[in-house]
Amino acid sequence: MNDPLVTAARAAQQQAYAPYSRFHVGAALESEDGRVFVGCNVENASYGLTICAERAAGGAAVTAGARRFRRVVVVSDSEPPAAPCGACRQVLAEFGPDLRIDGVGPKGTSSWTIGSLLPAAFSKEQLT
Ligand code: THU
Repeated sequence: MNDPLVTAARAAQQQAYAPYSRFHVGAALESEDGRVFVGCNVENASYGLTICAERAAGGAAVTAGARRFRRVVVVSDSEPPAAPCGACRQVLAEFGPDLRIDGVGPKGTSSWTIGSLLPAAFSKEQLT
């Protein structure tokens, strides 16, 4: 099946800057109004400053004014497909528990919701 979000995430993966891990990741995040925002991982010689693909895509989306999301596709060369790291789960959970996440690897796709990957996420409700 031709999934435009997978195509977009694969193109973003090609731009990954990962000279240290050589683990290339691309993400494509679809907003409720149908726009698609992409990101890749951006590593740094100061390793801890690395930005994951999912957070790069989220930053692009929020910068463009998007706040509500349907789905994010995360492409890597990992099998079984990689799910977002813990930090990215928390960032994605900011925008609601129903976001669907499709992890895509060389052989197949695994799907989750952010609520299932990060139950009891810290949320804005705790701050009121
Ligand atoms: N990485 C991501 O981009 N997303 C994830 O969810 C997991 C890890 C990146 C960070 C680093 O550049 C490389 O993958 C290896 O950890």
